[in-house]
Amino acid sequence: MSRTVVVLPGDGIGRVVIPEAVRVLEAAGFTAHTVEAEIGWSCWRRDGEPLPGRTIALLEQHRLGLLGAVTSKSRAEAEAGLPEPLRGTGHTYRSPILALRQRFGLDVCVRPCASFPGNPVNFVRRLASGAIEEPALDLTVFRQNTEDVYAGVEWIDPPPAVRAALALHPRFSPFLSTPGADLAVAARIVTRDASRRIVEAAFRYAAARGKTSVVLAEKPSVLRETSGLVEEAAREVAERHPGIELRSMNVDAVVFELVRRPERLGVIVATNLFGDILSDAVAGLTGGLGFAASANLGPKIALFEPTHGSAPSHDGIDPPIANPAGAMLAAALLAEHAGEPLPAERIRAAIARVVAEGRVRTYDMLRLPATREAIAQGAASTREMADAILARL
Ligand code: IPM
Ligand code: MG
Repeated sequence: MSRTVVVLPGDGIGRVVIPEAVRVLEAAGFTAHTVEAEIGWSCWRRDGEPLPGRTIALLEQHRLGLLGAVTSKSRAEAEAGLPEPLRGTGHTYRSPILALRQRFGLDVCVRPCASFPGNPVNFVRRLASGAIEEPALDLTVFRQNTEDVYAGVEWIDPPPAVRAALALHPRFSPFLSTPGADLAVAARIVTRDASRRIVEAAFRYAAARGKTSVVLAEKPSVLRETSGLVEEAAREVAERHPGIELRSMNVDAVVFELVRRPERLGVIVATNLFGDILSDAVAGLTGGLGFAASANLGPKIALFEPTHGSAPSHDGIDPPIANPAGAMLAAALLAEHAGEPLPAERIRAAIARVVAEGRVRTYDMLRLPATREAIAQGAASTREMADAILARL
């Protein structure tokens, strides 16, 4: 066994949940060396660089990463957070997770969200009879992870050449006389290759799980060229998977279905921004961000993370109360990707048992605000939740 996982706790609750995820991974029988790497706000505050070269080198070398969370700050806050000598020297803060996705071409993002029976925050529906129905949900969002407006090609006050290019488009005419300072433009970039890859990943996943359809959530009726290209690529891919139907739906209709009859959906594939939004909605239906995990997959490197952020509102809450399940489920995805489905199954089963037993619940499962009072109100600490899950492995 010569596998090494690069562990990137990052900021805030990332530092709290990642050690628990590493603990559960080992206890579940996944054997690997670990090496810790820095990323995020603390690196920025010290060096003006949230994604250090050593971190990039370690990921290049070991190809498997487990990331906690990184803080996103506005331009002004980031500038103010820099050490004095670095201020005003042109250092610009960019979310290091976005930088990693671009740098390593982590273009396939997988966000599986299955509800755990017994979780009090699962989606429920009141029937006409007044009875409450709680459908079991198993939803997975495949999010194209590098293109679309996330490619980052945008301008405020676009340079003259860009304005001239935009003016070539007849639909730009209402904006011709808008002053530059009042005009911001983002380019929605999609390519056929990346669209094929994300759709192919969704179809393979569906095939491996015996699913009979994949929903493409786009907006081809309005975004004729960009969504149109994605749809075309999706149809090509679908032809190679005759047993699985491609259902092309408008993204707004998918959201409507999600909040009304989410059990009718399964595998959803979307471009970057739609996928970002849809995956939070799906997480919200299946236990919340405390139970959501993502895989970011590229040709060489794979990076796994809980979907939640660094949660600055948790700062100073001691003992920490963040739900470690999302990070543990990210660790399970990592094990599966590394060819070890058994530890992954064990982790999921252990979480399922703790949730079903209902004795140990973190604040999010009790719908409590994230405050230091949560524990007195009956919430388990991060450690207690992690211990309960480890005990059920
Ligand atoms: C996600 C997050 C990120 C994104 C943020 C933190 C930049 O919301 O992974 O879904 O927008 O992709
Ligand atoms: Mg998001």
